[in-house]
Amino acid sequence: MELSVSSPADFHVHLRQGALSELVAPHVRQGGFRLAYVMPNLQPPITTTEQALEYKANLQKIDPNVEYLMTLYLSPSLTPEEIKKAAKAGIIGVKSYPRGVTTNSDGGIESYETYYPIFEAMQENDMVLNLHGEVPSDAVNVSQHSKRRRFADFQREKNIHVINAEPQFLPHLFKLHEAFPKLRIVLEHATTRAAVEAVKSCGSTVACTITAHHLFLTVDDWAGQSWNYCKPVAKFPDDREALRSVIKEGVPPSSANSISLQTSLLAGHPRFFLGSDSAPHPAHTKSTSTPDHGCAAGVYTSPILLPLVAHVLESFGALDKLEGFVSTLGRHFYNRQLTGEETSKKVVLRQLPEGIKVQERYSTGENVVPFWAGKLIRWKIVG
Ligand code: NCD
Ligand code: DOR
Ligand code: ZN
Ligand code: ZN
Repeated sequence: MELSVSSPADFHVHLRQGALSELVAPHVRQGGFRLAYVMPNLQPPITTTEQALEYKANLQKIDPNVEYLMTLYLSPSLTPEEIKKAAKAGIIGVKSYPRGVTTNSDGGIESYETYYPIFEAMQENDMVLNLHGEVPSDAVNVSQHSKRRRFADFQREKNIHVINAEPQFLPHLFKLHEAFPKLRIVLEHATTRAAVEAVKSCGSTVACTITAHHLFLTVDDWAGQSWNYCKPVAKFPDDREALRSVIKEGVPPSSANSISLQTSLLAGHPRFFLGSDSAPHPAHTKSTSTPDHGCAAGVYTSPILLPLVAHVLESFGALDKLEGFVSTLGRHFYNRQLTGEETSKKVVLRQLPEGIKVQERYSTGENVVPFWAGKLIRWKIVG
């Protein structure tokens, strides 16, 4: 059996910098994708238009055949003027990381109100706010513990940890949506039933990305298995069920009216789509930890992304939603709809009942291990 998908788009991916970028950026296309919505958490983070454009040029040098949509990292240095400039330069979004919750998020934010003038400017200039939707845990990092003790003690009273960090964040989402109803907001990499319900209950300007790995993993898969460890961590089977169901769901008539009624748009809930959060780390940082350093958070799916999504969707009876999930719905939310000629450029997948083995590692100057290394996937890109 063969399936074809028009121009797959990954609405959340980490393409890194330097040697790692040279290794991983070409994997976007290898994994079947034609558009990459690029995260800004480099060292230093991408905080200006100029940096974002330079980063884009670097990525284009590595692989010119992918459309890169760029983002800025929300931080105190960002101004409404810079937002205007960024929007003019074609930068699409701003990503906010609460301080300390994940890779390179030490410069992240602590209070959203401080940024209201930025969000106002974003709303005016039609930029998208991408939220890493977790509040910081009590113990962000053992090595930071003594330095940050007072704040951590305060948080401990609130009993915040990796399992409830996302549900605890949701009031911030509601508050932001209420304050900026026209601002397009994406709750990134949702992992809980609570997050799915929250996004559903918001208006048409709020969307949600779902990763391939969170459709597969639950807590048991990363407890003691560092290769499956990422932020937000995979949650309980019932949460995974909620992520799967929202992909299987048809569009309810009320929201269908507000979007163009192409049949492919009816393939899934219109505001839930793929953002892989593919997050490569050098293999040694994933496989080792020390008493005061955990292993790096991130699951690397780019090189196998489209076959992986097809495999996982098929496993829960949602293969008919593939094109909506990986292309049409996200493109619709981001106003990157395909034109007539582009629609005909399809990526073709073939089903291999016996499966094909995922490569164990990818190496050049750097060395990365993909999700499902050595395991069998039932789909292969053939054109
Ligand atoms: C830090 C902590 O608790 O370790 N806070 C946080 O992650 N939100 C302390 C700090 O950065 O002030
Ligand atoms: O697991 C993760 N890794 N989650 C993130 O939000 C960031 C990412 C990274 O950059 O490594
Ligand atoms: Zn994130
Ligand atoms: Zn991410």
